Amino acid sequence: MASKRKMKRLISLIENWNYNYYFLDQSIVEDSIYDKHLRELKDLEIKHNLILPDSPTQKAGHSASNKFRPIVRQKPMLSLDSVDNYEDLLKFDERVKKILKKEEEIEYICEWKIDGLSIGLVYQNHQLIQVSTRGNGNIGEDVTFNKELIKNIPFFLSTIANCEIRGEIYMKKSEFFRLNKELEKNDSKLLANPRNAASGSLRTLVPLQNRKLHFFAYQLFNSSLDSQSTCLRELEKLGFAVSPDYQLCKGIEKTKEFIQKHEPKRLNLDFESDGIVVKVNNYDFYPLLGQTSRFPRWAIAYKFLALSTTSQIEKIYVEVSRNGRITYVAEIKPVTLQGSIISKVTLHNYSFIRNLKLNIGDKVLIKKAGDVIPQIIQLIKLTENIWLPPNACPSCNSTLKWNPTNIYQICDNNYCSQRTINLLAHFASKSGLDIKGLSQKNIEKLYQNNLIKKPIDFYQLEQKREELLKLEGFQKKSIDNILSSIKNSKKKPLTNLLIALGIPLLSSVKAKKLSIFYPNLASIRTIIENNEWEKIRELLGEETQKEMKNYFQNPENFQLLKELEKIWGN
Ligand code: IVH
Repeated sequence: MASKRKMKRLISLIENWNYNYYFLDQSIVEDSIYDKHLRELKDLEIKHNLILPDSPTQKAGHSASNKFRPIVRQKPMLSLDSVDNYEDLLKFDERVKKILKKEEEIEYICEWKIDGLSIGLVYQNHQLIQVSTRGNGNIGEDVTFNKELIKNIPFFLSTIANCEIRGEIYMKKSEFFRLNKELEKNDSKLLANPRNAASGSLRTLVPLQNRKLHFFAYQLFNSSLDSQSTCLRELEKLGFAVSPDYQLCKGIEKTKEFIQKHEPKRLNLDFESDGIVVKVNNYDFYPLLGQTSRFPRWAIAYKFLALSTTSQIEKIYVEVSRNGRITYVAEIKPVTLQGSIISKVTLHNYSFIRNLKLNIGDKVLIKKAGDVIPQIIQLIKLTENIWLPPNACPSCNSTLKWNPTNIYQICDNNYCSQRTINLLAHFASKSGLDIKGLSQKNIEKLYQNNLIKKPIDFYQLEQKREELLKLEGFQKKSIDNILSSIKNSKKKPLTNLLIALGIPLLSSVKAKKLSIFYPNLASIRTIIENNEWEKIRELLGEETQKEMKNYFQNPENFQLLKELEKIWGN
């Protein structure tokens, strides 16, 4: 029958995803798609009252790999059923009430659902003697030899001699970024996401000392506990970290309010969370509620709206930035993510492309970084080859060079028009001198009509009113506004001017520091004329000093400084 064929197809798809997730530490499909397929399979099984052999609905995870010593569990490590809307959350509450034969509100406890990997910690005679991953739920993998990587678990419990504690291992987002920066420096393969990084770090036979993992505890097997809230308090007393912000909610409406309040906060956490786990608080109810072969009926995971989605690369092009660095951008099949349409993603640098072996035609998993710029977080390779970088600058056609570590290309033509336009746009931008009415497009027009070729030309625009009026889209009123904004820009703090120059590595914090010690352009000029670079090194660090020196050693930049000095603050 057709449904049987469909079920078989779903099983093989899910098995393949499981294999990648549990054995290869890579999630090749986003969670929401995985859940959708698993739900579809489950619905078919119920509809036809048929469970095929090897159905993943009957296992908590994939079977454990044989890389590690197997640990047979007394109590299987279950997974959680999930919902992704409030309607289904209400159904969960109704089911709980029905089983418990209760009409009054149920007390739930809400915790962050940490996107990591679940582990069990066994303490015997007060000592931590075993750390194991979930494996297939019944048989876990022994990773005790990597316990030192987990920075916030006690190896000794003073008040309890024997117990098992379960929870989630994760890598802090800050640690993940630090690690990837380090890997990028060494031109090593980057880690796809904190979950994969945590799993890869823990499930390795050669301990990786430079990786830090953390743990949130959520279960303590100890018969004296009567509720999840006492369990969490007990865990805290024992020295474990538990999900921050956990809260008791009387009834499903309060639970919903908790979720609504917390969902936007997840981006500010230092760990990845993909939902809220809602648990019945009272342990007396647990035996009554029972469990299926995969899930307990006393808890549910409310999954947040996906932060990532898949698409396909249609084109790759390069752009040249104001300091000559080439950036690589992929055009993708437009997709909607968190309400906005995404058609472009940054590829950072060529090392990123090289490491992923990326090409046009490949499928990618994309995510909004910090909720703004979309980025590729995983690749599903569909093509054979890798995309090769261009030899010439897309704007001025000059031959591109490689930076010393071969990570990105550089256009070293100081007169490259795109570079100059970007530099002028940066000069006028909000973080620079905040000149109103000068969009990138307008600046391009001014540049192409020879009205502005270098930053100092902004201050001569007053004399070119007639020519400005001839430009398409420039009316008297808008010109007046632009010119008055240019005039006002001379009164901006020195910090803004320093940022506007676009000296590499001179961040806003460093520019501010510099302007405290060197409060005007004349004092900055003395650094150059008196060769006071040593002082700058002490103030801003060696790398920034080098960049600043390099910048002002270019006679044109030094000339710009002197010309600005004449008009600045007038
Ligand atoms: S309680 C019977 N609490 O999410 C299992 N699980 O997708 C009880 N998870 O298998 C688990 N954060 O690995 C619980 N605060 C939390 C959690 C949590 C993450 C994991 C856990 C679970 C999976 C379900």
